[in-house]
Amino acid sequence: MRVGVLTGGGDVPGLNAAIRAVVKRGEGAHGHSIVGFRNGWKGVVEGDVRPLVRDELRNVLATGGTLLGTSRFHPHRNPGGVEAVLATLEQERIEALICIGGDGTLGAASEIAAAGVRVIGIPKTIDNDVWGTDRSIGFDTAVTIATEAIDRIHTTAESHNRVMIVEVMGRHAGWIAVTSGIAGGAEIVLAPEEPFDIERIEKFLVHRHRAHASFSIVVVAEGAVPADGTAMSYQTEVGQFGEIVAGAIGERLKSEIAQRTGFDTRVTVLGHVQRGGIPTASDRILASRFGVAAIDALSEGRSDVMTALRGDRIELVDIADIAGKVQYVPEDLLRVARELA
Ligand code: F6P
Repeated sequence: MRVGVLTGGGDVPGLNAAIRAVVKRGEGAHGHSIVGFRNGWKGVVEGDVRPLVRDELRNVLATGGTLLGTSRFHPHRNPGGVEAVLATLEQERIEALICIGGDGTLGAASEIAAAGVRVIGIPKTIDNDVWGTDRSIGFDTAVTIATEAIDRIHTTAESHNRVMIVEVMGRHAGWIAVTSGIAGGAEIVLAPEEPFDIERIEKFLVHRHRAHASFSIVVVAEGAVPADGTAMSYQTEVGQFGEIVAGAIGERLKSEIAQRTGFDTRVTVLGHVQRGGIPTASDRILASRFGVAAIDALSEGRSDVMTALRGDRIELVDIADIAGKVQYVPEDLLRVARELA
């Protein structure tokens, strides 16, 4: 079988490990020929293909980014996009696609599957918000980086008696904020799942600094917002594609906290540092498991499904089921972050 592979959406560490697994297993165990599309769905529309062979994929397991390139282009949102995808697949004699991406890329995969193409999805996003899987590729590395950053910020917070705000990624769900906040011992964690009350934050900080500590760490997800009817007014800043702009909530909180408490306050926006560099062992393992499961599923005649981690097991979920849904941080995890403040 001739199989196409693409990576779409924001890059994450572990994508190359997934591509490598698809190619090694696909070529070695099933005798498939694998080709890659450059720059996500854009490359499929433009017919931008390159062969992927085992011998050329040495030493990619530990590399970050994606050797195929990526984009946030979605064929079904562009006139003639779906038709162009079908034409490329026919011209390149590609019988199935493995799409490695987050909700946007997988949503497009679902549309292409509905147009009659055999598709398998693999979830990746540092935000860990793809519905239907406990983990997505890239999340573990991002949490590791964010936790290290919080550890480093702790020392300056303590030395200077400051309130240090650390803004991490997470537009719709606060997975990175909550888990790195717990691991890094943050005093306050703010996630999109639980809109916050600035007056409660003010009271907490004033009490803490009077009672027993002269510094605090606040970890905030970029998509966190104040609760309706509370004292802070804040309009989420949105970019060209309707995305939440990083840096807006961190900066806004910094001025609000400094003005309300009088404490010396600083903000660090981690931004794309969280998505860069080498993948953790855990992300390499997850990516390898997903890659093998995806090509095996295709070889067994399955299609229109996404590989998912459920507990310790890799399972397959219908790709049509995940579209438009968000995997939020569960209440028990939010509670741990609250209770350890
Ligand atoms: O892909 C998810 C993500 O990492 C978000 O957490 C973040 O808001 C966004 O990507 C940033 O996107 P870009 O790289 O396009 O600025």
